Amino acid sequence: MSRLTVVAYTFGILCFLASCAFSVFYGYKVVSHDLPAEDQTGEKYNYHFVLVPEELDNDYWRLVEEGAKKAAEEHGVLLEYAGPRQANIDEHLKTIEMSMASKVDGIITQGLSDEQFTPLINRVVEKLPVITIDTDAANSDRMAYIGTDNYYSGFLAGKALIEDTNGQANVAIITGNYYANHQQQRVQGFRDAVESEEGITIITVEESEISRVRAAEKTYQILTDYPEVDAFYGTSALDAIGIAQVVDKFRKQNQVYIIGFDSLPETLKYISKGTIQATVVQEPYEMGYRSVTMMIDLIEGKKVSPVVHTDTRIMRAADLLKRKEDEWEAGR
Ligand code: BGC
Repeated sequence: MSRLTVVAYTFGILCFLASCAFSVFYGYKVVSHDLPAEDQTGEKYNYHFVLVPEELDNDYWRLVEEGAKKAAEEHGVLLEYAGPRQANIDEHLKTIEMSMASKVDGIITQGLSDEQFTPLINRVVEKLPVITIDTDAANSDRMAYIGTDNYYSGFLAGKALIEDTNGQANVAIITGNYYANHQQQRVQGFRDAVESEEGITIITVEESEISRVRAAEKTYQILTDYPEVDAFYGTSALDAIGIAQVVDKFRKQNQVYIIGFDSLPETLKYISKGTIQATVVQEPYEMGYRSVTMMIDLIEGKKVSPVVHTDTRIMRAADLLKRKEDEWEAGR
């Protein structure tokens, strides 16, 4: 073999080894998904997360999204907000499946029901971290939960109703969904709070499918079927608004007590008017914000508490007035 042939062979072998090393290295990078995430404009991000709510076009979830986007912006995270436009459990589950298949770095979603969400969350967690938000699937392998203590918030609602009605009320409950963990906990907390009150009876529990229109329809039906009902408890953000619309329409403001959930602008409007007497305040913006920072901490191996409860409290007209005065003072 001439010297030239030996050099040519050696060069060929080196080129082959270099190309093998190159393929293995980049192949690994793609599989392990540690290339920086990129959006359609080519901008690079440190991580890519998906936030999957039960209903995209819901004012409550838009606040969660706002908080999550703010944290994402501050930490170089590409955050997608994806899910059903209107509540639909199959689409919700499908969005989680698709996010897992597209190898994002983390999924933030509700653990709506043990039956449908727990097995899926457990499958996803084998591949990437999952944080539950707003609604926990406590029996799943999710890595952490951030949101309201839903049982406690229902308990608070019950205590507020007792106080405001002097322990005398025939209550109708309108709840978002019978199957959802957090809605069940909000109802159970309420039941436990009023249980020992002889003057309080729960007449019926109806479902609104988290729709304001459905909540209004159910209110109308309840007022027709159970004329003894003189108090309503709405357990999801739009329920009390739907109830208030009907109560206002039939001019029953002075005969019917309403306690709801959340402090959306429409709810506050009805509190100022005196149609809704009280609401359980949640912190959706903070939930969104902290879900993103918690996910970053999890990925970076920092210690994260498995259950983080955001603040919950009761707001009535007097609190609203006080808040407005404080804002006015601060702005002077
Ligand atoms: C709940 C959310 C729900 C929303 C519906 C809120 O009170 O925390 O889980 O999707 O109401 O409007």
